[in-house]
Amino acid sequence: MSSPIIHNHETIQRAVISALRAWKKLDGTSENFLEDFLLVRKKRYEMAQHQPEVEFRTVTNQILSSCIDLLATQDEINADILSKRFQDGETILSVAHQLNLSPDQVNRRQRQAISELSKILYRQETKSKQLHAQRLESKLQPQSYSKLFGFNQSQTIILERMLDPDETWVIALAGLGGIGKSALADAVTRSAIQQIHFEEIIWLRVNNYISKEEPASGSWFFEFVIQQLASRLLPPDTPPTEYLEQIQILLKKAPHLIILDNLEIEHSTNELLLNLNNLANPSKFLITTRSRPSSESEIFIFTLNEISYEEVNKLLIHQAEIIGISNMSEDLSQEIKTIYRVTGGNPLALKLVVGLIAVLPLSQVLEDLINSQTEDVEKMYTNIYWKAWQALSLNSKKLLQALPLISESGGQLDQLQAVSGLSTKQVGLSVQELVTRSLLEMRGTLNQRRYGIHRLTETFLRTEIIKWKDGPI
Ligand SMILES: Nc1ncnc2c1ncn2[C@@H]1O[C@H](COP(=O)(O)OP(=O)(O)O)[C@@H](O)[C@H]1O
Ligand SMILES: [Mg+2]
Repeated sequence: MSSPIIHNHETIQRAVISALRAWKKLDGTSENFLEDFLLVRKKRYEMAQHQPEVEFRTVTNQILSSCIDLLATQDEINADILSKRFQDGETILSVAHQLNLSPDQVNRRQRQAISELSKILYRQETKSKQLHAQRLESKLQPQSYSKLFGFNQSQTIILERMLDPDETWVIALAGLGGIGKSALADAVTRSAIQQIHFEEIIWLRVNNYISKEEPASGSWFFEFVIQQLASRLLPPDTPPTEYLEQIQILLKKAPHLIILDNLEIEHSTNELLLNLNNLANPSKFLITTRSRPSSESEIFIFTLNEISYEEVNKLLIHQAEIIGISNMSEDLSQEIKTIYRVTGGNPLALKLVVGLIAVLPLSQVLEDLINSQTEDVEKMYTNIYWKAWQALSLNSKKLLQALPLISESGGQLDQLQAVSGLSTKQVGLSVQELVTRSLLEMRGTLNQRRYGIHRLTETFLRTEIIKWKDGPI
């Protein structure tokens, strides 16, 4: 976590002085090991991979040495004074003699050198933090939102738990499909990345349909988590019998954040939570789940509720702007109460309705929605999905219908083409149409864009359109 030491030149300088003085001491304090610096933590972590017995002092000294080398490029004598005094342990008098300087001059230069070294360390630290944040962010899929409404307080609560170094190892975000669990998990993860708290971030999407074919027990799911973590964290030649132990070593050594997105109730048993807790500390798990986990003892559960009417208002207008129908904002504003009566504060339902308004007359959308109004959220979604489906072009229907065949991590354009039988151009147009209607989500990374569908969209397609209840016929 970012530390007060690193915010002010005086405190950095104090830490640098105590680290230099401790050059030859194996044991130390967190200050003279410069433990609050990401540079040091990272180097420790990297070196521990190759030399598990490496001394902390060696790591800190390597960082100091490389900063002294940088100092040498701007002030050779000052750098020399620092190496002689601290690395070689020579006295002021001896250094003065060797460099043809008076002891006073050496003293003055030494103070100057420490100040310069502190600035260099700070610059290196800032650069390292930026690179670290960029690397972790590049592991997240693109945001499904451009702005979140009504989540400020929730974000603060979850972030606090996530950054707490002493407790809460498993955090669960619970709530209905489409309520914003994954979006909130993404937002909080991005904030945690900026705080430089976690060494690694791993986002695992749980494929409900595959797991349903297996006995959906906590131990099955734990096995799934271990396999996934092994493929991302361990060298490829690690024997599977060592996966658990090796992963545990890594997760105990440095704080990793592991997000288990879309974990369903049947998996979140006491046994699973216990297993996750055993892997955690300092690492943490963030789970998104539609139903509240049954155990409350080993886990912090945060339930997401519908967003307020005011936030619904803002979300609708914002979404209309995003998909290029801001000319309708005024008409939309007047009808928000009606939309809210049908959708409540369910963000995905709201986005789907805006998608409909983009292609159908507002009055027709409202009339249809009111006619099919229901208190049952699941039915409400089915009704809205039916409208959204009927308003699609034939090609987009073909593409959407084929998407349950694509894996949970989404498919690239050529895979979408292969499963739908459309031409490249047709796929391009349909992707655009489906994204605008909030029926398609962007996944993958900037370099490898993938597309996938929300769990609710998949359920609708499977149960209403293709009628596969138990997998492909
Ligand atoms: N508070 C919010 N403000 C704006 N958009 C939201 C909000 N919550 C969710 N969304 C959007 O609604 C859609 C569904 O949210 P998602 O996080 O996938 O729901 P869940 O994971 O609970 O099923 C996503 O496109 C998401 O970006
Ligand atoms: Mg989700």
